Amino acid sequence: MKRYLISGGAGFIGSALANQLATAGHEVRVIDDLTTGNRDSLLPSIHFTRGDVQDVSRLWSLLQDVDCVYHLAARVSVAESILYPGDYNRINTGGAVSLMEAMRDAGVSRVVLASSGAVYGTQSQQPVQESTVLNPDSPYAVSKLAAETYIHTIGRLWGIETVSLRIFNAYGPGQPLPVSHAPVVSRFLRQAVTGGSVVLYGGGQQVRDFVFLSDVVDSLVQAAEAPNVNREVINIGSGNGTSIAQLVDQMESVINKKINRIINAERTTGVKTLIGDISKATQMLGYRPKVSLAQGLERMAQEDNRFKLK
Ligand SMILES: NC(=O)c1ccc[n+]([C@@H]2O[C@H](COP(=O)([O-])OP(=O)(O)OC[C@H]3O[C@@H](n4cnc5c(N)ncnc54)[C@H](O)[C@@H]3O)[C@@H](O)[C@H]2O)c1
Repeated sequence: MKRYLISGGAGFIGSALANQLATAGHEVRVIDDLTTGNRDSLLPSIHFTRGDVQDVSRLWSLLQDVDCVYHLAARVSVAESILYPGDYNRINTGGAVSLMEAMRDAGVSRVVLASSGAVYGTQSQQPVQESTVLNPDSPYAVSKLAAETYIHTIGRLWGIETVSLRIFNAYGPGQPLPVSHAPVVSRFLRQAVTGGSVVLYGGGQQVRDFVFLSDVVDSLVQAAEAPNVNREVINIGSGNGTSIAQLVDQMESVINKKINRIINAERTTGVKTLIGDISKATQMLGYRPKVSLAQGLERMAQEDNRFKLK
């Protein structure tokens, strides 16, 4: 049995991780301010604290006797970060620094950071490897890169093991559906099952690396256990590129229904292509994604009432 603290552990990825660790018999503590998270998604055995990841003294008391910390607390919308870069700097970057300060004083030995594939920005060479020169193009991406750098630097100074996972486009049951800037998979699937239309910017030609929730959780579990990963940054994706138009094709076969597409060829959103090279994850963590996009969409439709065909 090990003790874990998960910041942002009431969120989409954090709650799945927390529940999996608790089910495996570990003691799990969660700190989350519930800006987007939901404490009801956590199993009753999990010790939940509502609080801010910038609160060093609160963190310090939660960190006592913890073996490993997962740092997931963050603001997660690229579009919102363009409007409110100060918040992203304060919470995503400042939160990582606060956590490291508290960890240093509590004597915790390892932290796993949920970083993002967004740090790569526009890249002509695909799939992207960890050695690629980074080209972050939003305050969100910069805040994640700064968090990586702070965690690795403070870790080196104080002898804390650190590992950053650059997660690509995660999707799965429980994925948030905020009113504005919802992630593409949950937004499109919800539209599809309720009989709405989907808007394909740039004709839906942007290519992304969609990785299913349980594969991301497996990689986080592996990152806490793996030897020789200190100071490493590791891509976590599916290793495959899927265009947004192909995503809609897949949704049509899963729900067995035609989805009305509205093509907006003039406007585009985000980088054209972003696919992660996952060979380092395979080699260092033994990571192998198990769930195909078709299977993952099927599971979303079966396991989450919001995505059941109406
Ligand atoms: N979902 C993805 O595709 C994806 C991809 C790359 C990286 N990530 C990273 O993974 C992590 C989890 O993302 P998610 O998709 O589960 O998003 P999420 O919004 O569901 O989870 C983030 C959690 O952090 C909490 N939080 C926000 N600000 C906080 C604060 N100041 N103090 C304490 N808690 C706070 C929120 O309430 C929420 O529960 C984030 O760090 C995100 O940047 C996610």
